[in-house]
Amino acid sequence: MTKSNKSDEPQSIPTTTNPEFGERPTQWVPTKHQRALLRAAGFPDRHIESVPMGPPKWRSMVDTVHDVLVMSEYGAMIGIIGPRGTGKTQAAVAWGSQALDYENHEDGVLYTRVQDMFLRVRRAFGKDATMSEEEARNIYTRPHLLVVDEIQERSRSDWEQLFFTNVLDHRYGRQKLTVMIGNLTCAVFMQQLGPSIISRLTETGRIFLADEWESFRDNPAPLFDTA
Ligand SMILES: Nc1ncnc2c1ncn2[C@@H]1O[C@H](COP(=O)(O)OP(=O)(O)OP(=O)(O)O)[C@@H](O)[C@H]1O
Ligand SMILES: [Mg+2]
Repeated sequence: MTKSNKSDEPQSIPTTTNPEFGERPTQWVPTKHQRALLRAAGFPDRHIESVPMGPPKWRSMVDTVHDVLVMSEYGAMIGIIGPRGTGKTQAAVAWGSQALDYENHEDGVLYTRVQDMFLRVRRAFGKDATMSEEEARNIYTRPHLLVVDEIQERSRSDWEQLFFTNVLDHRYGRQKLTVMIGNLTCAVFMQQLGPSIISRLTETGRIFLADEWESFRDNPAPLFDTA
């Protein structure tokens, strides 16, 4: 088995030092360099276009979660749950771009939809695999910030549950930052993740509800030109 990685796969992107860290603009306009880093870390193209940093309740969630992530010395697990189109993935891009600016975290930032994680890891099974199962798991245990989106899109087979719990427990042990995003109610989110993950999340972070404002898909805000 050859132990190499495919170059077109999202990779965790090393973080760098930014002297302007902490500034909170009213409009997020990524630089060309930031967009390239975010794209390479797996964030969706749609969400790395510039957006206004509002409305206030959405912005408040973005800033509060950002503060939890920045101030957590010992890692944190955070859940973001809410209806369709309320800007949860967009918020994750804000945290991802801010995390690229964290100091002294060379392990980087990675975004994945939960099902893509399972698909990628399953490719490590079988004779044509390009990496070992442990190497595949480490892709998700290593990044300083891991965003796992569309958390509800799982079969919840025993294998998926065990694998996901194992990844989250490694991340808890290594004091990493994990953001899990789902289109679920709080009760279903907790039930689907299971007691092991919820116990760790309760200790290190909290669940945020993204349900107090309208879907951006119903009333899209004008986007800014980034040319
Ligand atoms: N603050 C914002 N201002 C303007 N547009 C936004 C904002 N946040 C998100 N959008 C846009 O609204 C659309 C929906 O946002 P997004 O995909 O982040 O929602 P979501 O909560 O992740 O939805 P789902 O649960 O279906 O995944 C996207 O096109 C996104 O770029
Ligand atoms: Mg989304």
